Amino acid sequence: MAASIVPFLGGVSLAAETNYDEAAVRQYTLPDILAGPDGTAVTNAEAWREIARPHQFKLLETFVYGRRLPAVPVSVTGKVDRADCMLAGNVTAERIQATIKLGDAPDALTTDVLLYLPKSARPAPVFLHLNFRGNHAEYPDPGIRLSTAWVPDNKATPEVEHVATEASRGTSSRGWPVESLVSRGFCLATAYCGDVFPDRADGRPSSALKSLGRPVEGTLPPDEPGGIATWAWQLSRILDWLITLPEVDPTRVIVVGHSRLGKTALWAGACDERFAMVVSNDSGCGGAALSRRNFGETVGAITSRFPHWFCPAFATYADRETELPCDQHTLLAMTAPRPLYVASAVDDRWADPRGEFLSCVAAEPAWKLFGLDGLGTREYPAINTPVGHSIGYHVRTGRHDLLPYDWQQFADFADRLLSK
Ligand code: GCU
Repeated sequence: MAASIVPFLGGVSLAAETNYDEAAVRQYTLPDILAGPDGTAVTNAEAWREIARPHQFKLLETFVYGRRLPAVPVSVTGKVDRADCMLAGNVTAERIQATIKLGDAPDALTTDVLLYLPKSARPAPVFLHLNFRGNHAEYPDPGIRLSTAWVPDNKATPEVEHVATEASRGTSSRGWPVESLVSRGFCLATAYCGDVFPDRADGRPSSALKSLGRPVEGTLPPDEPGGIATWAWQLSRILDWLITLPEVDPTRVIVVGHSRLGKTALWAGACDERFAMVVSNDSGCGGAALSRRNFGETVGAITSRFPHWFCPAFATYADRETELPCDQHTLLAMTAPRPLYVASAVDDRWADPRGEFLSCVAAEPAWKLFGLDGLGTREYPAINTPVGHSIGYHVRTGRHDLLPYDWQQFADFADRLLSK
C-alpha cells in the first residue's frame, strides 16, 4: 500500500510519518513475556499459568485494551429461527438466527447471531467471527435478517445514512466462503460488532458499556475499556449461548477476526480461554504486529484516528512505544498453549506483515513451556507458504483483505490441531 493511499485517513495526513523502509526500522528490545511481577522469568507451564500469564494479561489490560468486562447472563429474545437451506454447489445446511440479550439490566443491548451448520458431522467445530456491516452483508441469503443497527457507510457501499438497505445484502460475502467451510464440516457463526459498540469515535454512549455501568462520557480512567474490549466481550457472550446448542462442539469454538476485528479476536482469545483456537487476519497495529517496530501504522496514528478502540493509556505511548511495559507478542502469548494462527498479506504494509511474523517468533517461548513447537522457524516464509506448528503463519499475495485462501489455511490448521 503506498503511503499516499493509506485508507480511512479521516482528513489527517499521516503519509509523511509512515515508515515503509526496512533499513529505517530502529533497533528495539522486547519485554520478556515470561516475566512475573518481580521481573523473574518463569521456566515451566505451571508458573506461567499462576504467575507470568496473569501479570502479562494485566499489562495488556492496563496499557492497551482496558479492563476485562464482566460476564453477564445471556438469554434468547423472541424465537430462534431455524431453516434448512440449499447453498450454492448443492451444499445442504441448517441456518439458525437468534437475538441474544446481553445481561438482565433494563438497558441491556441485544446482538443478532447468524449460524450455518452442516447437516451431519455434529457436534461441529465452529468458526465464530464478528462482521463490519451487519449479518445480511456477509452472505447473499434473502432469509437473513437485515440489521437495524447503525452501520458505517461510504460512497462505495449501499447503506444510506447509516441504515442498512436491501442492496447491501451479500456485499461482503467474498470474505466468508460459507459453502466450502460448511461442506468441510465446520459450523459458521457471525454477529455484527456494531450491535454492542458502533464503530465511531462517539460510539461509547450507545454502546453496551452503558448497561455495564461504565462511564461513557467525560474524562475516562486510563484503563477504561474501549471498542475492542467491548467487541471481545460480545464474542464471549455469544460463546455462552453457542455452547448451549447441542449441534455445537463446545471444545472446538475458534474465534476469527479480520483487521480491527482481528485485534478483537486476539483480545477475546486472551480474555476467554474457552476459545479453543484464535485466528488473526491482517490485524496489524494493536493486533499481531509489534508496536516497537516502526513500520506501517504506529500507536500515534491508530489512537488519533480511532481513539475509541483502546483504553486511554495506550494513546500516551505515541512516539514512545519503547516504554510500553508490554508489546503485541504479549497478546499473542496469551493464546498459549492453544493453537494460534496469524495471517498477513504482502501488500498490506500498513499492517506490517513482517512485524506480525516477528511477533509470532517472540511469542513462541510461551508454547515452549508446554513442550510445544510454536512457530518452529525464524525465517520469514515465502509468499503463500504457510509455516508453523502450534502457531501457524502465512503471508499471501495481495492486499488487506480476508479471502477464501486465508479461510482455507485456517480450516487446514484447525483440522490438524483440533481434530478429534
Ligand atoms: C485502518 C486502521 C487499522 C485497521 C483497519 C481495519 O486501516 O488503521 O488499524 O486494522 O483500519 O480495521 O480495517
